[in-house]
This record gives sequence, C-alpha cells and structure tokens, in this order.
Amino acid sequence: MKIRPVDADRGSIGAPRVGIIGAGAVGTALGVAISRAGWSVTALASRDARRRERFVSLVPGVRAFVEPVAVIEEVELVVVSVPDDAIAAVVDSMRLYGGQTMVHTSGVLGAEVLTPALAAGSHIGAFHPLVSFTSDVERSVAGIAGATIAIEGDEAILGLLAELAEAIGGVPVRLPPGAKAAYHAAAVMASGGLIALLDAIVSLGAAAGLDERGAVAIYGRLMEQTLANARAVGVAAALTGPIVRGDAGTVEAHLEALRRLAPGAVELYKAAARRELDIAEERGTLAPEQMERVRSALAKVG
Ligand SMILES: NC(=O)c1ccc[n+]([C@@H]2O[C@H](COP(=O)([O-])OP(=O)(O)OC[C@H]3O[C@@H](n4cnc5c(N)ncnc54)[C@H](OP(=O)(O)O)[C@@H]3O)[C@@H](O)[C@H]2O)c1
Repeated sequence: MKIRPVDADRGSIGAPRVGIIGAGAVGTALGVAISRAGWSVTALASRDARRRERFVSLVPGVRAFVEPVAVIEEVELVVVSVPDDAIAAVVDSMRLYGGQTMVHTSGVLGAEVLTPALAAGSHIGAFHPLVSFTSDVERSVAGIAGATIAIEGDEAILGLLAELAEAIGGVPVRLPPGAKAAYHAAAVMASGGLIALLDAIVSLGAAAGLDERGAVAIYGRLMEQTLANARAVGVAAALTGPIVRGDAGTVEAHLEALRRLAPGAVELYKAAARRELDIAEERGTLAPEQMERVRSALAKVG
C-alpha cells in the first residue's frame, strides 16, 4: 500500500470563502495559514470570547460567531476543527447548502462522521495536517511548511482540498482505504510518544543534576543525531547501545537506577528495550545466549 500524492489542478474556479469552527490549536493556525495564503477566511465559530478575539486579531476581515451554524451562512468551505469526540455532536444540528463543502481535521475519523450535515449537491471530506499544533500559533503555522496533509472526500472536492493544502505550504496525499487509524497511531507515537520519552529522559536527567532545559539540550542533540543516522542508513542499522551489543550487565545497572530514581520510567525503558532486542534479532548480530542474558536482565526489575 502506498500513500498517493494528489494533483492540485482543479481548473480555474476561484478560491472559496472559508469558515472555521473551533478556535483551538488547529482551527486558529489553519485560519491564519489559509488567510496568509490569500484565501478569504470570512467566518469563525468559537464559544470562547478570548479565543474569538485572538482569531479576529490574527485574521483580517473575519466575522466571529458563537454558534457553529452561523458559519454555514457565510462561506463555501467549512473547516470543523473541534476534538474528534465532539465532531458528530457539533455537525448534528447543521445542514449544508448545495455547492458547499465541509471538512474536519481529525487524523483518525473518516469523512462519514460529517454525513448528518450533507444535503443535495454538498460535499464532505477530511483535511489532516501531519503537524504538531500547539497554543503557539506562529510555531504551528510555520510547522505546516512541507508537512504532509492527508485529504479525503468526494472526487468533486479532492482537487480543491489539494489546492488548499498546497496553498498553505503542505503536501497533499491520499491514504489507502482503511489506513487512517494506523497512519494516525504512528503520528501519535512520533509526536506524543517522543514527548513521553523526553519526559522520562528529563526525570533521569534530574537525578544526574540536569534541569529540564539542560536535559532537553544534551539528549535532544543525541536524538537528532540518531534521527539523522536513521535517515542516512535506515532504522535498524541506526540502532546502537547496550541492547544491540548484548551488554546485559549495563541493562541491569540501568534498571536498578531507574527503580531508585525514576520508577515511573521503568516500563517505558523495558518496552523500548524489548523492541530493540527484536531489531537486534533481525540484524542477527547477537548470539542466542546474549539475547537470553539481556532478556533475563529486563525481567529482573518489576
Ligand atoms: N493538535 C494537533 O496537533 C492536531 C494535529 C492534526 C489534527 N488535529 C485534529 O484537529 C482537531 C482539533 O484539535 P485541536 O488540537 O485544535 O484541539 P483543541 O486545541 O482542544 O481545540 C479544539 C476546539 O474545539 C472547540 N471545542 C472543544 N470541545 C468542544 C465541544 N464539545 N463542542 C464544540 N466545540 C468544542 C473549542 O473551541 P471553542 O471553545 O473556540 O469553540 C476548542 O478550542 C481534532 O480533530 C484533532 O484530532 C490536531
């Protein structure tokens, strides 16, 4: 199965007016990025007065509403950027007009969650940037440049969504059918998983006298070097360290230190180590006895 790049050419139809529902991390950054790309973002729905004000200050010419349904009256393209679990309830009370398109930004749900809003001649889809959006709007907007944006929906709107993705600096792709949850789980491991690892690393760094900044600086550099190695030589070949060398005594010493100083990180260390052992096995560089010694070292601290 392959992710397919999408052709953004859809003829000479002008850019639609865009409305955003939800002024959270994604809604605000997308609103800013779309507006800076020269498309008109003319409506926003947000229940929160401060978020409405911030959005209006960042996106010239937008009108802000409290009720999501108000956006439908103003635009041709509606972007729903509320939490995954809230999408169905938010769109339940809405009905599109013919010619309108509605997309959501969830990485895991399909376009069909928007079906209640469909009417004759309207279209639904999804538009998911593979970006870590935080409350820092400028960092989030900058993160869109070069990022993959998974689009889906009726054939009639794929060109439009691809054009929008390219306009904001992203790379539109289509995922194979049924692949969305796996694709998104990988994204969550790449982003949230990395933060979980960093959090554990910071707690160990504290035991070695490093504050968070210091730990992120020195171990972050090592992470970047490892990532660069994986890019250059492949994931399996980039693996170094005691597991792949078969240094069971080192693993035992680590687990003992973790137990005393950062017990919350023991399970994470072990889970990563078991995966490293799998890689070592595939590389075929460790003798079975060495593999077994590391495996029993991993079983020692509970
Ligand atoms: N954060 C990411 O890195 C990221 C990346 C790609 C895709 N996504 C997807 O984008 C969507 C939005 O994520 P987000 O990170 O922007 O979330 P968020 O920062 O929590 O913001 C979501 C916004 O939705 C509104 N909202 C929350 N609960 C609601 C409810 N029950 N009913 C109606 N509106 C509600 C709120 O806006 P108001 O209070 O302003 O109404 C809130 O600010 C999700 O589907 C997520 O999976 C997130």
